[in-house]
Amino acid sequence: MATVQVNLPHHQYQVCIEPGILQQLGQLARGVAPHARCALLSDEAVAKLHGGVAEQSLRDAEYDVITRAVPPGESAKSLDNVRQFYDVLLEARLERRSPVIARGGGVVGDMAGFVAATYLRGVPFIQCPTTLLAMVDASVGGKVGVNVPQGKNLIGAFHQPHVVVMDPLVLQTLPPRELRCGLAECVKHGVIRSPELFAWIGENLAAIQAVNPTTMTDLLQQNVAIKAAVVMEDEKESGVRAHLNFGHTFAHAIEATAGYGTIEHGEAVSLGMIAATKLAVDEKRCPPELLTQLIELLERIGLPTTAELVSTDDLMSAMLLDKKVANDRIRLVLPEALGKVSIVDDIPAERIAAAWEIVRE
Ligand SMILES: NC(=O)c1ccc[n+]([C@@H]2O[C@H](COP(=O)([O-])OP(=O)(O)OC[C@H]3O[C@@H](n4cnc5c(N)ncnc54)[C@H](O)[C@@H]3O)[C@@H](O)[C@H]2O)c1
Repeated sequence: MATVQVNLPHHQYQVCIEPGILQQLGQLARGVAPHARCALLSDEAVAKLHGGVAEQSLRDAEYDVITRAVPPGESAKSLDNVRQFYDVLLEARLERRSPVIARGGGVVGDMAGFVAATYLRGVPFIQCPTTLLAMVDASVGGKVGVNVPQGKNLIGAFHQPHVVVMDPLVLQTLPPRELRCGLAECVKHGVIRSPELFAWIGENLAAIQAVNPTTMTDLLQQNVAIKAAVVMEDEKESGVRAHLNFGHTFAHAIEATAGYGTIEHGEAVSLGMIAATKLAVDEKRCPPELLTQLIELLERIGLPTTAELVSTDDLMSAMLLDKKVANDRIRLVLPEALGKVSIVDDIPAERIAAAWEIVRE
C-alpha cells in the first residue's frame, strides 16, 4: 500500500492509497476510531456506484452503520443539509468517539467534515474521496465547510481527518470532465512545488487518461505528498499554504462572473493559472517559456486555455471581492520558475487587468 504521512503538531494521520482499498475501509476505520457505530455520508450518485463495498466493509468490521446521501452537486454543501445530518446523528445517538465517514467528492468531504468538526464539538473524521480533485486536494489538510448565499466556503472549520482512504479504482467511473478538473490541481502542484511532477504528468498523460490503476496510484501519491508537505509547513494558512491558491484568485473571479455551475472549478483554475503566469511574465518575474509549457500541457489535457469572459472591469471587481483580498490589495501567487512561486500584493490593478486578455476568447 502507498502511504503518505501527515504530521501536524497536535494530530497525525495517514493517507492510504491502493487499488481495491475500499474493501479495507472498515479495518482502517477500526484502527483509528474503534467504536460501535459510525455514519457514512455520501452523495446519491456515488452511493449508487460505489455504495455497497464501503458499507459492507464497515459492517464486516462490526460497525453499526448509519448511511445518508445528499443529491449530487455543489448546492448540497449547505447549512440545511448539515442541520439534517445533525438530526440523523442525534437520533442514532452517535457518540463522541463514533466516526463520521465522507465517501464522495469534495462537496461531501467538505460538508461531512463540517458536521464531524461541530457535532458534539468534534468527532473522528474519515475521508474516503472518490473524485481526483478530492483525492489530490480537498481530502487532505483539514479545511471543511459549507456555502451560504453570500458566498462559497464562508462557514467552516479546520478539522483534520483521522485517516484518508483512496481507492484509485473508483476513478474509473468518474466522468472525463471531472478527471480533467482534478488534473488542473495536479498541474498546479507541479508549478508551485515540483518540476518533476509537471514533466511526469506530460509523459504519463495517456495512462492517466486511461485511468490506469498503477499510474493513478503514482499520481495520487506524488500529489498528496506535495499537499501534505505544504499543510505540514503551514496548517492554518498563515504563510506558504497560500501557494495552493496559484491561479485561484483569477479562477474565483471567472466562476463568480460566469455564474456558479456554468464553468467547472478546475476549468477556471486552468484559465486562472495561465492569466497569473502571463502576469508574472509581464512583470518580468518569470521566463516566457514557462507560460508556453503551461499552456501546452493544459491543452494536451483538454482543459480550456481561453474562454468567453465578461468585461475586464467586471472581472476586476470580482477579484476585489475575493476573500483573499487584504486592505483592498489583490494578493496573487505568481510563478518565478517551475516549482517556485511567491506571493505578491503590490501590482497595480491596471497591470493585473491586462493579463486577463490572454485567456479571453
Ligand atoms: N477542503 C478543501 O481543501 C477543498 C479543496 C478544493 C476543493 N474543495 C471543494 O470541493 C468541492 C468540489 O469537489 P469535487 O470536484 O470533487 O465535486 P463533487 O463532490 O461535486 O463531485 C463532482 C461530481 O462527481 C460525481 N462523482 C464523485 N465521485 C465519483 C465517481 N467515483 N464516479 C462517478 N462520479 C463521481 C459526484 O456525484 C458529482 O456529481 C467544492 O465544493 C470545493 O469548494 C475543498
